[in-house]
Amino acid sequence: MSWNRFTQYSYHNASLGFALDYSRIPFPDGFLAEKEPAIQQAYAAMAALEKGAIANPDENRMVGHYWLRASKLAPTAELTKAVDDCLAQIKAFAADVHAGKLLGSTGKKFTQLLVVGIGGSALGPQLVNHALGRPGADKMAVSFFDNTDPDGIDYVLAQLAGKLPETLVVVISKSGGTVETRNGQLEAAAAFKAAGLDFAKHFVAVTGEGSKLEQTAIAQGWLARFPMWDWVGGRTSELSAVGLLPAALQGLDIDAMLAGAAAMDVVTRSTATKENPAALLALMWHYETAGKGLKDMVILPYKDRLLLFSRYLQQLVMESLGKEFDLQGKVVNQGIAVYGNKGSTDQHAYVQQLREGVNNFFVTFIEVLKDRAGASMAVEPGITTGDYLLGFYLGTRDALSEKDRHSVTVTVNELNARTLGLMIALYERAVGFYATLVGINAYHQPGVEAGKKAATGVIALQQKLVAALQAAPGKQFTAETAAQAAGGDAELAYKILEHLAANGALKKQSATPWFASTYSA
Ligand code: PA5
Repeated sequence: MSWNRFTQYSYHNASLGFALDYSRIPFPDGFLAEKEPAIQQAYAAMAALEKGAIANPDENRMVGHYWLRASKLAPTAELTKAVDDCLAQIKAFAADVHAGKLLGSTGKKFTQLLVVGIGGSALGPQLVNHALGRPGADKMAVSFFDNTDPDGIDYVLAQLAGKLPETLVVVISKSGGTVETRNGQLEAAAAFKAAGLDFAKHFVAVTGEGSKLEQTAIAQGWLARFPMWDWVGGRTSELSAVGLLPAALQGLDIDAMLAGAAAMDVVTRSTATKENPAALLALMWHYETAGKGLKDMVILPYKDRLLLFSRYLQQLVMESLGKEFDLQGKVVNQGIAVYGNKGSTDQHAYVQQLREGVNNFFVTFIEVLKDRAGASMAVEPGITTGDYLLGFYLGTRDALSEKDRHSVTVTVNELNARTLGLMIALYERAVGFYATLVGINAYHQPGVEAGKKAATGVIALQQKLVAALQAAPGKQFTAETAAQAAGGDAELAYKILEHLAANGALKKQSATPWFASTYSA
């Protein structure tokens, strides 16, 4: 890779403290010109979206996450006011909590924050907490329930042992009906009740108007409620109450996050492609994957605090772009697979395959110029740990280039609330542009909705199996006979019965072969 190509195909913005080097994607010189008509269409689609067009046709919804950091751009005064009021409410609530004006049910100041949510209602807050948190210096320590795994819940509750009187619980669900989140909410409430605490005085909801969660919060008299709107998607909700409320409670600079995102939005509204890093990124994705997801996107931040960025982007990219149909209803099975972790740690893991194995990926390196808040010691004369981190990033990048493995590099001057906000905004818009380039709806998630419904059939069968076994106490059922009695599938019945037996909910008599084992109530 040459200095000339680097200077020709890099975007630098000193005022943002941001750069994008796309010179190591070996597109031919004519590529950008050839794609110019298509990317101009993407700019037009994005401009319409920002003006309030129905950009999510399947759900007949506007897509308004860009208004969250520039409320005046919202298409109606009512929406502008909704965004502004919500931000003011978040700040006032966080200030009251920090000042001890709002206290727990026993009069203790809130020092712990438990966030209950999943997917787009957890990944952003988790990313921000990990990237910007200052253990020991934050106003509140944050933990998460992001699953319906009982043991995972116990792990978090053990960390909060003795601290529930000073714990505030923020339950986040846009739909207000997501089962994992409902279960986390119920488990958290039970833990408060077991500790003799009035849980409602500790609970806050972030949810859509009229949702089940909102109804529960009203009926039980929770401490507060914050809005989530149907025009903000879960995976683009970090800069709504979903992300801003936990961040503000933690004591992070939410204004800086919003300002960073707004600044990146201004730049990425440019219709001059070489001045638009989100468009350049989307075009590089298109070149690398042939617009068909033929290569995976590996995210390699050389910064421990950005460890969760790959998980965050995995959802943002794969839930947005992973679609069966295009906008015309043709089967396209689109998507780009995203995975990653952090460097240089990954050089001691899967980078071996990246360098020498199957060449089915391109890498996004993320470089943060400033190493740490204070000064660094020398680990060798004149050399710091941060110098080594840079050395490993540059060395790996070259090693990959030498073997025709392609990469882009996103550089920020330092990692802070502003630069995290601008990186979130960069990727949100790159995903939007890419979706237009390949002709899909980036803003719905039918696969997620299908997954949400999938468990209900299993739960219904479990109830029938238990009823069948309880109707004949002591009678031995194999998986097959139990399935017949319950009117269900034998394989599903076997899995459910094994789980119930392992958890002491019924008795199992082992037999040979294994599928002749019997179960009884
Ligand atoms: O991005 C999405 O739409 C999903 O990942 C949702 O955020 C996730 O399923 C959680 O949904 P909800 O916030 O309605 O509980």
